[in-house]
Amino acid sequence: MNNVVVPAPAATIKHDIANIALAEKGKKRILWADHDMPVLANIRERWEREKPLLGLRMAACLHVTAETANLVRTLKAGGADLLLVASNPLSTQDDVAASLVKDFSIGVAAIHGEKPPTYYKHVAMALDHRPHVTMDDGADLVTAMTFISLDWLNKFDPEKQKPVRDWAEKFTPEQRKTLFNDLIGSMEETTTGVIRLRAMEKKGFLKFPVIAVNDAETKHFFDNRYGTGQSTIDGIIRATNTLIAGRKIVVAGYGWCGKGVSLRARGLGAQVIVTEVNSVRALEAAMDGFAVMSMADAAKVGDVFITVTGNMHIIRREHFLVMKDGAMVCNSGHFDIEIDLVALNKETELYTPNVRPEVEEFRLKSGKRIYVIGAGRLVNLAAAEGHPASVMDMSFATQALATEYCVKERGKLAAKVHEVPRFIEEFVSNTKLASMGITIDTMTSEQVDYVNEWEHGT
Ligand code: ADE
Repeated sequence: MNNVVVPAPAATIKHDIANIALAEKGKKRILWADHDMPVLANIRERWEREKPLLGLRMAACLHVTAETANLVRTLKAGGADLLLVASNPLSTQDDVAASLVKDFSIGVAAIHGEKPPTYYKHVAMALDHRPHVTMDDGADLVTAMTFISLDWLNKFDPEKQKPVRDWAEKFTPEQRKTLFNDLIGSMEETTTGVIRLRAMEKKGFLKFPVIAVNDAETKHFFDNRYGTGQSTIDGIIRATNTLIAGRKIVVAGYGWCGKGVSLRARGLGAQVIVTEVNSVRALEAAMDGFAVMSMADAAKVGDVFITVTGNMHIIRREHFLVMKDGAMVCNSGHFDIEIDLVALNKETELYTPNVRPEVEEFRLKSGKRIYVIGAGRLVNLAAAEGHPASVMDMSFATQALATEYCVKERGKLAAKVHEVPRFIEEFVSNTKLASMGITIDTMTSEQVDYVNEWEHGT
C-alpha cells in the first residue's frame, strides 16, 4: 500500500534536511524497498483503518534509510504525529529524508555527514516534539530524557551535546523533573541500546517502560545475523572493491552479528578468523569451523578486520603496530569506539583522506599503510545502504507492533525493560512465511497432548 496522499507543503512540516530537491530519487527508493516489506505493509493497511496511534506524538531516532521511511509511513498511517531524527551521523540517506518531507508529509531532522552539534540539535528537536512514545536505535533519546529528568545537565558534553543542554535549560529544574511525564514508553532497536537500558534499569534510573525490540527472535535472528552479515560485506566491497576470496578476514565478536559476518565472509571464500572474550561463543565459533585466536595473534595475519562487539577499543595501538601493510579495518558495531582511531592517529606520519570514497589511508611511522573504511562508524550504513528491506521488514514490523502493544497497555507496564510479547513474534513470522509462499506443519492433537504430558516414557 502506498499511502501517497496529497502531501502538505514542505514548509508546514518540521524539517532540517540536506536538500528537498532530492525527493524524487528518495521516493523511488522508498517504494522499491516497500516491495520487499510485506509484513509492514500488512500492518499499515490495518492501521489506516484502525488508527491505533491517533493523537500521539512520536519521536524516532533511527537510521534514516528507505526501510525506515516505510516504518515511519506506517506509524503515520496509524495516526502518529512523528518526527524522525538520525541515530548516526553517517547513515542518513538525504534523498529519503527529502522525500519523507515532500511526498509523505513526515517531519525529518537528519543530514548525512552531520557533525556532533548538528546531530544533537536534531536530538533536541526530537525532545522538543514532546513525544508520548519514542523509538531509539542506540538509546540516545532515552539517555537524554533521563539525564534531563534527573537534572544531570553536566552529563552532556559541553561542546558536542550543547544543543540538548541549551534546550533543557529553557526549563526550570522543577519543570525538568516532570518534562517527560507524558511518555508512555520507548522502543529500542539495537543490542547496544538494550545493554545501555538494562544498565540504566539495574541502577534504578529507568523511569518508563522500554520494549527491547532487538531481543525479539524476529529481530536479532534475522536482522543481526543475515542483515549485518550481508550489508557489512557489501559495505567493504563497495568501498574498496577488494576480493574477499582467499583473504584472511578477522571478525571480532561472535554474537548474532559476528556469526552473520563470519558466515557470509566464508561464503565468499575468505579464511575467517574469529576473536572473542566469551569462552562459550569462542567454542561455538571453533565448532562452526572458524579459526579462533586472540586479537594479538590475528592482528599479525589479517587482511581485513571487522569489529562487531558492542565494546570499546577492540583494535588498539599494539594491534595496529603489528598489522600487515595494506590491512583494512572497519566496524559494524553500533558506536564508533571499537577501533581506537586516536591511537592510530598518534602512530600516523601521513594521513590521506578519501583515497577512495569512505576510505582513509594512515601511513605509520614504519611506512606501513592501514586503511580505515567508513571512519570507524557502521560500515554497512556508511559505505552501503544498510540491511536489505526484506530483513528490515521483520525488524520494523516488530517495532510497529511493539509500539501498538505499549500504547494499548498504557499505564500498565512497569518502568523496566520488557520483552516483545510472543504473539507479536508469531504474527511477524507467520506473515513473513506466508509472503514467501511457505506453508508449515501444525501439531496434531495427539502431538499437542504428548508435549503437554509428562508421564509418557520411551
Ligand atoms: N540498520 C541496519 N540497516 C538498516 C536499514 N536499512 N534501515 C534502518 N536501520 C538499519
